[in-house]
Amino acid sequence: MNGEGCAEGLRVYDPAFLNTAVVKSQVSYVDGERGILLYRGYRIEDLLKHSNYLEVAYLLIYGELPDKLQAAGWEKQIMTHTYLHVKVNDLMKSFNYDAHPMGMFISSIAALSTFHPEANPSLAGANIFLQDVKLCNKQFKRIIGKATTLAANAYRHRIGREFNSPQNGLGYTENFLCMLDCLGEADYRPHPVLVDALDKLFIIHAEHEMNCSTTAMRLIGSSLVDPYSAISGAAAALYGPLHGGANEAVVHMLEEIGSVENIPDFIAQVKNREKKLMGFGHRVYKNFDPRASLVRDVLYKVFEVCGQEPLMKVAVALEQAALNDDYFVSRRLYPNVDFYSGLIYKAMGFPTDFFPLLFAIPRISGWLAHWNEMLADPDLKIWRPRQVYTGEAARPFVPMSERP
Ligand code: ACO
Repeated sequence: MNGEGCAEGLRVYDPAFLNTAVVKSQVSYVDGERGILLYRGYRIEDLLKHSNYLEVAYLLIYGELPDKLQAAGWEKQIMTHTYLHVKVNDLMKSFNYDAHPMGMFISSIAALSTFHPEANPSLAGANIFLQDVKLCNKQFKRIIGKATTLAANAYRHRIGREFNSPQNGLGYTENFLCMLDCLGEADYRPHPVLVDALDKLFIIHAEHEMNCSTTAMRLIGSSLVDPYSAISGAAAALYGPLHGGANEAVVHMLEEIGSVENIPDFIAQVKNREKKLMGFGHRVYKNFDPRASLVRDVLYKVFEVCGQEPLMKVAVALEQAALNDDYFVSRRLYPNVDFYSGLIYKAMGFPTDFFPLLFAIPRISGWLAHWNEMLADPDLKIWRPRQVYTGEAARPFVPMSERP
């Protein structure tokens, strides 16, 4: 890290925030050396075993596990917020038939701010959520509730089908799968193992401290913009292939490799820096990503119902080749959460470009938890980092008539 002296005092130059902590947070804890992940102090492994996604979302946002009454009320209210305004449906119908689902989601969730202007602090010019807890709580339920309907609409639009209405009486994840209605059956009910698998993946993806998209959520939110616009910005950050878009990129990579014999050639290209091994490496985890092994457990359960995804053979051989290669070992590159999640989604029949959206839906609870923590901070300030200017000093303007 370099310290740059300047007229206004000492400035720290830390590109990509490699060494900068920008918040004090109680939401989650990552121990990158020992591969530990805690949500509000609870081990991710315990939450997977004993909890469900909506309960985890409550825990992340409010800091404590709900009691029975709170859990029931939370789920009921979220499910009553799953409906979209007919004009939001119309908006989604206006996208090109081949629009990327994340593009549709990012735009549509931003559009929700125009339907709920009461949640726009910029109109009041103040942090209205600090004073009005009820208003704040309503946004959590509305955003979590509507996220699955927006995602299902994006999916249905992409396959050229009518949108399905949410069914309040179902659980959050089951309702989501029903709205997708992958099989096109009138009374479609997803296999309970698949509902459970997706719910577990939602827990695994719900939160991960100051990753790129959560940082975006806090940065955008620090301007006191409405939460729909901030979530849209966070989702845009997640969309990139180095972050949540990696699950889609992994499957493209495995398809490109095609078969086990082609792995040595692919590894050679990675070492020549022509390609990246997608789904490998992490800024914080340097021994293993605990989420990767949890995803692998889910994967075998899904394969029992859906059959083994043929690309699995290539994935396992690629992982083994990388784990035994000094290039990856010396750089401490291991499979991350995205290496195997795409194979689960593929086995379940989701189109590849839908994968990042399956990451975005649960990460919304993590983004909202950070947004809530940030807004409750009486010392909240707008985020505004500084730069080290390396451009021209002030110079005289040359009018066009005097230029060659
Ligand atoms: N394939 C090949 N080489 C890699 C990879 C990779 N996936 N990841 C890192 N490296 C190399 C870098 O080239 C660098 O080598 P060098 O020191 O010789 O220049 C070294 O390992 C260190 O990597 P950095 O890029 O400095 O690591 P950083 O912390 O900046 O990046 C990241 C982390 C973005 C996750 C990176 O590992 C990557 O691009 N991985 C592939 C994309 C991916 O899977 N993203 C999902 C991450 S998990 C998530 O966001 C949910």
